[in-house]
Amino acid sequence: MSTLVVYFSFDGNTRFIAETIAKTMNVDIIELKTSKQYPAEGFLKFFWGGKSVIFGEKPKLLNDPIDLNRYETILIGTPVWAGSYTPPVKSFISQYKLQRKRIALFASHAGGGAEKCFAKLKESLPGNEFLGEIAFVNPRKNPEDSSKKAASWASDILAF
Ligand SMILES: Cc1cc2nc3c(=O)[nH]c(=O)nc-3n(C[C@H](O)[C@H](O)[C@H](O)COP(=O)(O)O)c2cc1C
Repeated sequence: MSTLVVYFSFDGNTRFIAETIAKTMNVDIIELKTSKQYPAEGFLKFFWGGKSVIFGEKPKLLNDPIDLNRYETILIGTPVWAGSYTPPVKSFISQYKLQRKRIALFASHAGGGAEKCFAKLKESLPGNEFLGEIAFVNPRKNPEDSSKKAASWASDILAF
């Protein structure tokens, strides 16, 4: 049984962590892609993104169907948006109804809300075992430290 890293990233921070983990641990990786386009810049980005979280939107995923039976362990990554996880991750959870998986969580944020985000993610994933969680503050600003931290966390998590 193997491991999958599945994530959404809007500005590349969560992607940076996801790719570091997948590369160092030599595991599969899938970036969630959505039909929903958020404004790329400025206030509107926060407004539409935040609104989308608050309204519980589940944008349609553009990814090919994912065969989760192949994976025992799933590492889920998301940016923190409005103290929660992102709508594409909500779509993933809703579409795949994970059960009896070993799950670990990672998130990028700008300074607050990661605990709440993790708590909400766990609440929405009952019936699974949680291996751990880790948050990064805008990791692309400190790529070396962040990738070391991510690699060491992932190897601890996957050692069990
Ligand atoms: C719509 C929106 C809401 C956000 N809400 C939060 C928040 O509640 N707390 C926080 O620390 N950062 C917040 N951020 C900042 C992002 O979590 C942060 O920049 C993160 O590193 C972005 O990850 P990404 O580059 O993978 O998209 C928000 C960003 C956006 C676009």
